[in-house]
Amino acid sequence: MAVTLTINGKRRTFDVPPEMPLLWLLRDVAQLTGTKFGCAAGLCGACSVLVDGVRMFGCQTPAGDAQGKSITTIEGLAEQPLGKALMTAWNEVDVVQCGYCQPGQIIAAAALLKDNAKPDDNAIDAGMSGNICRCGTYPRIRTAIRRAAAIHAGEKA
Ligand code: FES
Ligand code: FES
Repeated sequence: MAVTLTINGKRRTFDVPPEMPLLWLLRDVAQLTGTKFGCAAGLCGACSVLVDGVRMFGCQTPAGDAQGKSITTIEGLAEQPLGKALMTAWNEVDVVQCGYCQPGQIIAAAALLKDNAKPDDNAIDAGMSGNICRCGTYPRIRTAIRRAAAIHAGEKA
């Protein structure tokens, strides 16, 4: 069965079973491997993508549910002003340790900043809940989100 969706601004059709997890479609079929496979159980957030601007876990989202929707992966976010602000901040703060969780963390941060351009620590903790970092980079992630918010606000001004 065909599933048609927009990925990073390009409308694409895939001949996949509708029950295939979106994560599988993105990584194994569309060859967009920036989105990571962690637990496959909705517990880690490594597979986070934006579906019509809302953070979703790709491992828990059937491809058929994404039919007609707009998907943004870390590759697409990297081309957007908000994504560039986040990646600049991530580099400035030197957030990354092993890096495996970080695409999902940045997608979650983008969803947060789309809703709340200047989140406080409580809002950051709430927005980032569900994204696990086994290296414990949480303090640097908080700092980088605040820095990204400032950079992005400056870009808009
Ligand atoms: S791989 Fe999807 S939540 Fe862990
Ligand atoms: S940087 Fe290693 S799991 Fe987060």
